[in-house]
Amino acid sequence: MFYETARRDHGLPHDPIKAIVAPRPIGWISTLSEDGVANLAPYSFFNLVSTRPDIVAFSSDGLKHTVRNILATREFVCNLATLELIEAVNLTSKPVKPDESEFDLAGLMPAPSRLIAPPRVAASPCALECVWIDTLELKDQHGDATGTHLTLGEVLGVHIDEAFIEDGLLRTEKLHSLGRDGYFDYSWVDAVRSVPRPR
Ligand SMILES: Cc1cc2nc3c(=O)[nH]c(=O)nc-3n(C[C@H](O)[C@H](O)[C@H](O)COP(=O)(O)O)c2cc1C
Repeated sequence: MFYETARRDHGLPHDPIKAIVAPRPIGWISTLSEDGVANLAPYSFFNLVSTRPDIVAFSSDGLKHTVRNILATREFVCNLATLELIEAVNLTSKPVKPDESEFDLAGLMPAPSRLIAPPRVAASPCALECVWIDTLELKDQHGDATGTHLTLGEVLGVHIDEAFIEDGLLRTEKLHSLGRDGYFDYSWVDAVRSVPRPR
């Protein structure tokens, strides 16, 4: 089959695009509001987009609390979403008022960050402490604003639970890193295969 996105004539009950670009890593992003309320939400339009320096990016459909908090405070943590935490990850996507913390909603303990003010998720085995670089509103091919905002941040510090390090390597398949697929689906890493690059 083939369909043009502008026509949306795929004939399927749901848009399949997110089932194609899958799995997408999940940035489980914690921030602080200007009033000091800890906010937490999953973002699957998320990735590491650079090393030297390490830069992460995520996009928000509209200016959600996470982006508003980052624009106000310039800091955020990307916690690793894992299979063990799947229910909590999902729960923290619930739209709640800005004065309500998703940490409380999901029964998650905050842990202090080292270099920035927003807390991280204590139960998450890895966390990236980030400082804001830029937020830009995405434009479409005609240059028209889309309402989707891409935020870039530089990773200042990295937390790792050493239980997942073996022979000097962080074992992604043991972390069971969670990905977002299409629809309401999640998947997770439970196997990897190492294939050296050709020379
Ligand atoms: C697994 C998952 C991934 C999500 N990814 C995104 C995303 O990339 N962009 C977005 O705007 N919303 C995404 N959402 C929805 C937000 O998590 C949801 O709107 C949340 O309430 C935003 O919280 P905030 O306003 O506290 O930032 C996702 C939801 C789930 C469950």
